[in-house]
Amino acid sequence: MKKVSIMDLKQIKCKNRVADYGEVLTPDWLVHKMLCMIPDDATRINSRYLENSSGEGAFLLGVLSRKLDKIFNTYTDINDRKFYTVVGVSNIYGLELLADNVGISRKRMLDLVKEYFIHRYKLKTDIQFLKTIEHIINKNIINMDALTYKIPIFKNGKLICDENENIIYSDELGKISEWEIDYKTRHIQRVEYFYKDVVIEQKDKFELQNLLKEVEPTQLSLFEYNQEDDLFDEDNFVRVAKPIRKYEKIIYTSLYNAHVLKGED
Ligand SMILES: C[S@@+](CC[C@H](N)C(=O)[O-])C[C@H]1O[C@@H](n2cnc3c(N)ncnc32)[C@H](O)[C@@H]1O
Repeated sequence: MKKVSIMDLKQIKCKNRVADYGEVLTPDWLVHKMLCMIPDDATRINSRYLENSSGEGAFLLGVLSRKLDKIFNTYTDINDRKFYTVVGVSNIYGLELLADNVGISRKRMLDLVKEYFIHRYKLKTDIQFLKTIEHIINKNIINMDALTYKIPIFKNGKLICDENENIIYSDELGKISEWEIDYKTRHIQRVEYFYKDVVIEQKDKFELQNLLKEVEPTQLSLFEYNQEDDLFDEDNFVRVAKPIRKYEKIIYTSLYNAHVLKGED
């Protein structure tokens, strides 16, 4: 009988990537089992899912397909299906160190949306809709080191490192976008933050919950910025993340054309 090497498994691409980046991909059957443990959160169209080492997007795809099933079972009108697909996609985030994995995840997510609309349900999709989906996916699947919040430099399929094997980063900090959705008018506004600021706020809130000894810590929402709030919530010792850029509020089908609001850039 032929001996099965670990390289035969789809979970591993090459030994160096396992040793250097811990890249062992989760098989679909396991993703399915795990998502079945959080049936509501993994399926609700507007539940927010963020994975900070998302690989080729096994979990992102799992969550997206559940949301799409929910959308296609709930809505029959094509415009509702399109709009809620935009809502679903806008709530899925992935952070990944390796640029090739980011590219693969983005493509797999876009292909999955096309698969539902074009192949499974034989619906006509227009370029505008697909461009909107692609735009959101490109912003939400972020090439970033989730530990340093910086953007690595990736060339010819490899991270660029210095002589001591330390990763070399670009000068920029990684950014993340919140998509504020008006369900009545179907307009969306993109609000951009430094991911680092969002993490600091989440950490502060988590520590506050521990301090208050809340029996059951609530699930933290990613973005909480409110114009009326101070940036430092002194009563609660929470450093609130401030948006770095806001885009115009625009009908969802033209989202990719949204301009930065005056004075923001
Ligand atoms: C164990 S794999 C899991 C991938 C995916 N979550 C899955 O279940 O298939 C870990 C992933 O984390 C990525 N990774 C390693 N260090 C990272 C870092 N500092 N920031 C972001 N991603 C990282 C690796 O490139 C790899 O794709």
